[in-house]
Amino acid sequence: MGINCALDGPSGAGKSTIAKTLAKRLGYVYVDTGAMYRAIGLYAVRAGADTSDKGRIVPLLENISVELCYVDGSQRVILNGEDVSDLIRTPEISMAASAISAIPEVRTFLLELQRSIARKNNIIMDGRDIGTVILPNADVKVFMTASAEERARRRYEELKEKGQDVNYDDILKDINQRDYNDSHRETAPLKKADDAVEIDTTNMSAEEVADRIEELIDSAIRKDFKVIPAWRRGFYSIIRFIASIPFYIAFSIKYDGLENVPDHGSVILAGNHQTWFDPILIAIKVKYISSYMAKAELFKIPILSQIISLVHGFPTRRSSNDVSSLTRAESFIRKGYNLTIFPEGTRSKDGKIGRAKSGVALVASRCGVPVYPVGISYKRPLRFRRRITVRFGKPLSPEELKIMSMSKTDLRMAGELIMERIGELVKDNG
Ligand code: DC
Repeated sequence: MGINCALDGPSGAGKSTIAKTLAKRLGYVYVDTGAMYRAIGLYAVRAGADTSDKGRIVPLLENISVELCYVDGSQRVILNGEDVSDLIRTPEISMAASAISAIPEVRTFLLELQRSIARKNNIIMDGRDIGTVILPNADVKVFMTASAEERARRRYEELKEKGQDVNYDDILKDINQRDYNDSHRETAPLKKADDAVEIDTTNMSAEEVADRIEELIDSAIRKDFKVIPAWRRGFYSIIRFIASIPFYIAFSIKYDGLENVPDHGSVILAGNHQTWFDPILIAIKVKYISSYMAKAELFKIPILSQIISLVHGFPTRRSSNDVSSLTRAESFIRKGYNLTIFPEGTRSKDGKIGRAKSGVALVASRCGVPVYPVGISYKRPLRFRRRITVRFGKPLSPEELKIMSMSKTDLRMAGELIMERIGELVKDNG
């Protein structure tokens, strides 16, 4: 299950503008549930049915199929195979949607569709009852409001811009009427969930509102993450310093991009892999303790296995999609550790950058944490006192990785981007 953000509020509060902005920024799927009610409203109007007559509307549902699809990142609403996205934005359909949405059977009809989209994706879902009924366990719940006059003014400007001939007073009347309908119906009325954060947007710009909600999403992602106590980090720093001495003696190690070294835990460090001591070369400069994915074969060697476990190494089977290893990685990140990972899954024999396995993108996406690329380079063969350069690159946020649905394609593309960034940090001669 991905991150679920529920965005509720009255008509014209700016929910869809904000939801679209956020979905684009974060790489989430935007789900406009109002469009689903509008599609059913359109069907009822076309059928010539009285939209407030439950006895007429309920039998129609049998003939209706509503789907959402995404074209170039924007949502399209499909009613019985027809793309009705543009036809549902008229005042007549707004009223019809408001009327049919009061019918419990209509709400039940759409409930499972809405929940199933939320189960599979990181989503921003806007509507009236998302935080109260559809996704009561949403990670973030926001209730957006604005005065009726301000909402009418915004809608007026929007429609004028589209070249429509509109009257402010009519729009205000419409908004008041819909507010009344939506909050006085018996089933799932418009109401703030107890645990929702209310944002009054009357005097806020869209950008400010989006920033505020992004902060809420960010802290929800991190809320379960712990921080490793200072004394343990202090002890670790001493061990790290002692462990680094033989390597500084054996090689001429140069660090680049130190401004990009993470200054907190719960991030992923992803590097290219050529020697057994790559994890140590990375750890020397990172203050926060890391966990490591290491090949399962190493855990068959008695003393080595104990040493690796002591430094928070855990086994991964390279041949299969090792779910238990991914779970361990996630659990370390949530406990405040970093994860150092070599996405190619094996050491490169010739120094060339290979392809990433899906693990790195999967963990980044499930934990919602950034990936810091690291490039390690040296001239081959690696001899005593040879120069080794370790370059830290700018972190890739989960948004930049665009892992929306955790589908194979998304994960592959995110993996490619990570390897590309690592590749840019690797230079043949170090
Ligand atoms: O958000 P909108 O204006 O497109 O919604 C159209 C109507 O659908 C609105 O008047 C109330 C109803 N609706 C609802 O009852 N529950 C939702 N989750 C979304 C919309």
